Amino acid sequence: MEHPQLVSDVQQLMESLGQLPEPLAEPAFIAVSGLPGTGKSYFCSRLAQRLSFIILESDALRKVLFPSPGYSSPESSLLFRAVHLLIEELLKRGVPLILDATNLSERYREHLYRIADQLNVKLILVRVDAPPEVVRQRLKARQENSEGKSDADWAVYQTMKSSVPPGRPSDV
Ligand SMILES: Nc1ncnc2c1ncn2[C@@H]1O[C@H](COP(=O)(O)OP(=O)(O)OP(=O)(O)O)[C@@H](O)[C@H]1O
Ligand SMILES: [Mg+2]
Repeated sequence: MEHPQLVSDVQQLMESLGQLPEPLAEPAFIAVSGLPGTGKSYFCSRLAQRLSFIILESDALRKVLFPSPGYSSPESSLLFRAVHLLIEELLKRGVPLILDATNLSERYREHLYRIADQLNVKLILVRVDAPPEVVRQRLKARQENSEGKSDADWAVYQTMKSSVPPGRPSDV
């Protein structure tokens, strides 16, 4: 039995999604991965215009549970425990979805592999990347236009980039 707070968090996230797409016998499970500003949310919204997916944007879901987010590790742990349960619940109902989160470490992605294995659903991982100069300009423009749900800026990009080991194909 899950902790009552976790159950209520998942419920709250579910309610924030609004109308769900039509359930399918074999729902797609896509996850993007990449540094801030590389274009993950842009890619997800373009894809969802063509195919009916629900987008689980971690930055938006974080603000449902934590209206003034602090981006601490305990906050992220609580968020992602709820997000993983939400993913399971949606896929069990046959709802095709895209997880829009940085998903940079294999340790985080292992939760996604486990869910896909347990539910026998195919997981498609999409690594999104862009040259640093393009990212810098995009983040500057995004900040100036107060666009999107992410609070990450160039400083966050640089910190995260230095904490990620240089990409190996097996990491992707
Ligand atoms: N292919 C693209 N062509 C033009 N503009 C793009 C493209 N990809 C992203 N952008 C723009 O660049 C900015 C950063 O992209 P986006 O918000 O999708 O990044 P992100 O990877 O989701 O970042 P975060 O991890 O902070 O959420 C946005 O303003 C977006 O509109
Ligand atoms: Mg984003």
